[in-house]
Amino acid sequence: MKARVKLAGRDKMKVSEDDLKKLPLIKWCILEAIRLRAPGIITRKVLKPVKILNYTVPSGDLLMLSPFWLHRNPKYFPEPELFKPERWKKANLEKHAFLDWFMAFGSGKYQCPGREIQETAFCLVG
Ligand code: HEM
Repeated sequence: MKARVKLAGRDKMKVSEDDLKKLPLIKWCILEAIRLRAPGIITRKVLKPVKILNYTVPSGDLLMLSPFWLHRNPKYFPEPELFKPERWKKANLEKHAFLDWFMAFGSGKYQCPGREIQETAFCLVG
C-alpha cells in the first residue's frame, strides 16, 4: 500500500507500509492513546450456562468486560494513568501481537475487524 501525505502545506512525500515499520514510536503512541481511551464495555450474551470459578452464569445473562478499566489496572499496566508509549516496546507488532491484557479491540472470533486498517490509517493521518 502506498499513500501520499501532505506535510503542513509543504512538499508531498510517499510513505509505504514498510516505512511505517521503521517508525515504531508512531505506532506505540497511537496504541498508548487507544489504551487510555479504550471502549468502556464489550458485551457477550451467555447462550449456555457457563461456570466461572464458583459461579454459574445462566443462559440469557450478559457478561461484560471493560477494556477501559482493564487498561487502568496497575497490575497489568504499571502507572496506568501515564501516557508511556515505551511500554509498547515489549509487544511484537511485527506479528500483530499486542501487549497481554490490551483489549481495546476485543478478543477472539468477534474482535474488531477494523483493527489493522485502523493501525495503518492512524499512522498515515497522525
Ligand atoms: C481505535 C479504533 C477502534 C476501536 C478501539 C475499535 C473497537 C472495537 C471493539 C471493542 C469491537 C467489539 C469487539 C468484540 O465484541 O469483541 C469492535 C467491533 C467492530 N469494529 Fe471496531 N474499533 C476500531 C476501529 C474500527 C474500524 C476502523 C473499523 C472498520 C473499518 C471497525 C469495524 C468494526 C466492526 C465491523 C465491528 C463488529 C464486528 C462483529 O460484530 O463481528 N472498527 N470494534
